[in-house]
Parts: sequence; structure tokens; C-alpha cells
Amino acid sequence: MLLIKDLHVNVGDIEILQGVNLEVPDGEIHALMGPNGSGKSTLANSLMGHPGYDIVSGEVTFDGKNVLDLTVDQRARLGLFMAFQYPCEIPGVGLREFLRTASDAVNKGKVSLWDFTEELGNAMESLQMDDSYLDRSLNEGFSGGEKKRAEILQMLILKPRLAILDETDSGLDVDALRIVAKGVRTLSSSRFSSLVITHYQRILDYLEPDKIHIFHNGKVALSGGPELAGEIDAHGYSMLTEETEYLTS
Ligand SMILES: Nc1ncnc2c1ncn2[C@@H]1O[C@H](COP(=O)(O)OP(=O)(O)O)[C@@H](O)[C@H]1O
Ligand SMILES: [Mg+2]
Repeated sequence: MLLIKDLHVNVGDIEILQGVNLEVPDGEIHALMGPNGSGKSTLANSLMGHPGYDIVSGEVTFDGKNVLDLTVDQRARLGLFMAFQYPCEIPGVGLREFLRTASDAVNKGKVSLWDFTEELGNAMESLQMDDSYLDRSLNEGFSGGEKKRAEILQMLILKPRLAILDETDSGLDVDALRIVAKGVRTLSSSRFSSLVITHYQRILDYLEPDKIHIFHNGKVALSGGPELAGEIDAHGYSMLTEETEYLTS
């Protein structure tokens, strides 16, 4: 399971994460909601080891291993995966080669080309992605929705133990949303967990999270069951007043 204890993270001189406490047990899907600028992407980037984020103090362990001591590629081999809020375009790197290289790196070359090709075909079919994407540069000229599907395709190929999806649902139409949610559910098992960062109740209708956490001012201000998403939908984040903060953990 993922365990985050009192995590403080700076960007430059500014403290963005101000004591995050969060647990995501194996086999569970947790949603992370919260106003723009509350630090959700900062948390995701910090978990993956983005060099622009200074870990000031706190602990992050996954299966008992200290994640913060690991390089980004070691984190990926441990089974951590992140779908970016804003996937970047990488001209000259073909999607097929990128996926094959990433798969080889994470699986230490143990997946045969035959099996890889078959899995890739199946994953693309489930995401309703045309084969022609494979011969294009990664994300280059992809629409917003296509980029998000390409992120989920990477997730299906890499089969992480923990997938952090940073607003993967933003900019997706309802059909694409359903497909993406199906992708996440395909991986569901006792050895898979997911932290789904979102603004919208809609994807949660498809994913049925075990728990919802509301982020506010760089920490988890409120945690609860799926009903919390409905309350946020109805009342907005203004319900996160000082009075509700005592409910934290
Ligand atoms: N790389 C960065 N450089 C400067 N400021 C940053 C950077 N990343 C995040 N921040 C700041 O940290 C705060 C939280 O941002 P972010 O984590 O993206 O929030 P959220 O994902 O919840 O919308 C914002 O005020 C943002 O401007
Ligand atoms: Mg964000």
C-alpha cells in the first residue's frame, strides 16, 4: 500500500504541500478532489520524483519501501505510474517504440515481442484507438482526449501496482470517459490501486472509489466515503471551512 506521512514539499521558496497524510491500500481506488491550486498535481509529481519539487520533510512508503530514496525509474519499476495532467508532445519518439522501451525497462525485458504486440493490440482495441497512432510521434498533434487515451494506454501496457491519474478525465467527452474508466477497471485486482485526481463527480460514477479525499491548502482536509463527491458537487469547496478541518483523519 501507499503510505504518506506528514509530507511537506516546496517549489522554490514556497511551501506547497503542508503536511499531507494519506493511505491508499492495495486493491482500492481513491479519489483526490480539491480546488485549483490546492496542490494535487504537486503531490502527484512529488510521488513520482519530479526534480522540481523539494521534499522538505515527511515519509512516503510503498510496500514498506522508502519511495523518496528512489530515482524516477526505480519508482516506475516498483510499480508506480502517473498519467500526466498535461501530457507533453515528444516529436521523433514513436508511440510504439516508446511503449516497447518503457515496457522493457519496467519488465526487465521479460515480455517477448510477440506477447507485447498482442497486449498492445488488445489494449488499443479496448481504448478504441486506431493502430495508426502507433506510427505517430508520442502525443504530437494528438487532441486533448487522444493524449489522455495515450496515457491510459501506457498504464495498460505497464500494468502498475499504483496508478496516479492526474485529471485524466478533464477534457474527455462522456464516451471517452467511459472508455478510460473501463481501462482502470480492467487492471482492478487485489494488487492494483489507484489515486484518481479529479474535479468531477462523473468519472467517480464509473469508477466507484472506495474513499474520497478533499485537498485544501496543500493537505488532505477531509476524507470520507463516495458520498463526499456528491456533497462537494452540491455545496462546492466552500464547505471546507475551518470548522470541517477538525474532521481530518
Ligand atoms: N513547477 C512549479 N513552479 C511554480 N509554482 C508551482 C509549480 N508547481 C506548482 N506550483 C504552484 O503550487 C500551487 C499548487 O499547484 P498544483 O499542485 O498544480 O495544484 P492543483 O493540481 O491542485 O491545481 C499553485 O499555486 C502553483 O502555482
Ligand atoms: Mg493539477
